[in-house]
Amino acid sequence: MRFDIVSVIPEILNGPFSNSILKKAINKGLIEINVHDLKKYGIGKRKKVDDSPYGGGGGMVIRIEPVYQCFSKLLSERNYDEKIFMTPDGKVFSQKDAHELTQKKNILILCGRYKGIDQRIRDHLISKEISIGHYVLSGGELAAAVIVESIARLLPGVVNNMDSILTDSFQKTTPPSPIYTRPMIYKGWKVPKILLSGHHKKIKDWKHKKSLQEFKKTSIKY
Ligand code: 6GU
Repeated sequence: MRFDIVSVIPEILNGPFSNSILKKAINKGLIEINVHDLKKYGIGKRKKVDDSPYGGGGGMVIRIEPVYQCFSKLLSERNYDEKIFMTPDGKVFSQKDAHELTQKKNILILCGRYKGIDQRIRDHLISKEISIGHYVLSGGELAAAVIVESIARLLPGVVNNMDSILTDSFQKTTPPSPIYTRPMIYKGWKVPKILLSGHHKKIKDWKHKKSLQEFKKTSIKY
């Protein structure tokens, strides 16, 4: 699966993809991530990518030409199954969306910045608008990293233990119960005795009870 991410500050995306699971997935050839600097397609000697809004108001707006040029180049090389714009007013991303996107081969992601982008980009060049939650970030880069990670880890071979994917809280119909590992006691804080009992039926019942308690507390829709 291939991701092409277009950004005015591509440096932000260096970190998230060069560590741990995503790095391994890239090295194994399971995913390919290409980050493109929109400034390369900027206008004039100063490679301008933004301008003040028509009709007044503060802030700067990303111009259509650099985005069009960049997309044209990428689209001349391959077809994209989805052209996503990361924006706080997009549809809030869920685990279900992550699963759906695992079925795509090539995904193009445009990260917003400044006050916004020229509406014509959204109207004519984009197939999906995604937000990662009800709060505002200065740009879509971190949000793009979030959705790429959530999609990539669902692909076969990316996470070592597929079991751990299947027991992820959001994929189940009930929340997970609390989990513990060594040491048994730390600073006087103890692991629940039942988990050390070796009594499988009692442990199963305990986990079920805890999961239901969690279910009553949470506002997440399972
Ligand atoms: Cl996708 N972009 C920005 N700038 N802020 C956000 C977001 C995206 N999702 C939540 N907040």
